[in-house]
Amino acid sequence: MTTAVNGQKNAAYPATGTLHAAAEGETLLRGVLVYGEGEPADVLVRDGVIAEISDAGSLTPGENAEILELDGQVLLPGLIDMHVHLREPGREDTETIASGSAAAARGGFTAVFTMANTDPVTDTPAIAEMVWMKGQQTNLCDVHPVGSITKGLAGKDLTEFGMMAASEAKVRMFSDDGKCVADPQLMRRAVEYSKGLDVLLAQHCEEPRLTEGAVAHEGETAARLGLRGWPRVAEESIVIRDALLARDYGGRTHICHASTEGTVELLRWAKDHDIPLSAEVTPHHLTLTDEKLESYDGVFRVNPPLREHKDALALRAALIDGTIDCVATDHAPHGSEEKCCEFDKARPGMLGLETSLALIARTFITDVPEGEEPQDWRFIARVMSERPAEILKLPGQGRPVAVGEPANLCVVDTQAGWVAHGHELASKASNTPYEGETLPVKVSTTLLRGKVTCRDGEVNN
Ligand code: NCD
Ligand code: ZN
Repeated sequence: MTTAVNGQKNAAYPATGTLHAAAEGETLLRGVLVYGEGEPADVLVRDGVIAEISDAGSLTPGENAEILELDGQVLLPGLIDMHVHLREPGREDTETIASGSAAAARGGFTAVFTMANTDPVTDTPAIAEMVWMKGQQTNLCDVHPVGSITKGLAGKDLTEFGMMAASEAKVRMFSDDGKCVADPQLMRRAVEYSKGLDVLLAQHCEEPRLTEGAVAHEGETAARLGLRGWPRVAEESIVIRDALLARDYGGRTHICHASTEGTVELLRWAKDHDIPLSAEVTPHHLTLTDEKLESYDGVFRVNPPLREHKDALALRAALIDGTIDCVATDHAPHGSEEKCCEFDKARPGMLGLETSLALIARTFITDVPEGEEPQDWRFIARVMSERPAEILKLPGQGRPVAVGEPANLCVVDTQAGWVAHGHELASKASNTPYEGETLPVKVSTTLLRGKVTCRDGEVNN
């Protein structure tokens, strides 16, 4: 028996393209702490849906059920990453939809949004549909294509948002990520167009003239190392411009990878004025600073650049108080020849999918400096699952862990410390900036519509 196939057959999944069928049969998650709270519970998943939640040891599944002993591990809704680069089509040597989906499953993700800076650019329904279908065939996580705002990312002519939104891929986010939509009139038209379709515009805030040739945060470190500086104003001037466009023309605009203290202040102002603006922050901007550049190691080159400690602190506070809505990894795989070279020749970007949950847990729960208030697992569910689903109006994902909800879930082993090594990741690339670092917790299990996509690091293809 197959249930919950698609929008037509199951009300829990409207408004996406046709989804791969839910897994048939039963899986029992034994002894989990739901949101890390209360007493251990048994959670029974049947035909892709959470069927029962009861005291640990009290549920007896059917004969053929798969039983996962998860004694005391934390059960969360499946994570959603609204900003990844899976490089297909065009750079399948560095990542594919299949390898990126495997990395996502190992990281606890059940849905990802892959950016349009592919080759060819995702600027037509045909390419968007190819990405969506390959994701569904792989069936390790839902891979939503992001459509580009301008044709070929050239910053001149808008793409057909309507055609992409109506395609089988049901594109719901548009971005020229990697390139800012610098022309204010074009951005205004994009806002007006997006509003009618109720799709999200995600802006990579980078004023092109202020960042010409820039490879590092403009500050004392870059000056000392002789690296061309990328000033905060390059980001903040676009944030405020787009906030004002959103104020006057509406729509829904999203700020990609916020990186400065000033951006936080502008977002706070925008939210205080009920301007429809949302924002994401990456794990690396929360945890690393430009001091890492002392090594001249290209693995630390990223756009926007790693900033200063005070920026990281402001970003953390903003994520806690909701000024920044969510975490997105900006997972950006690159080949070793593109990273192991002079710093200013290295391609910008870092891996993120497999380390992000552990880094966010370390930053906000397990290794919080004295005097700061630790957060709980509900916070992680909010910033890594619920808020992205709300911002993207994504059905069937980021839902409460409750009976009757789709079994898009992830389980975190809070006793399983591990050491990050790029060559051990499922990603085709290995450009992690956390090489050799000990991380305190690990995703043990991920379920997509009831299918166990990953179990103790093994991906279930
Ligand atoms: C992005 C990539 O690799 O596609 N890199 C990054 O550092 N974020 C593109 C970009 O944003 O420049
Ligand atoms: Zn990006």
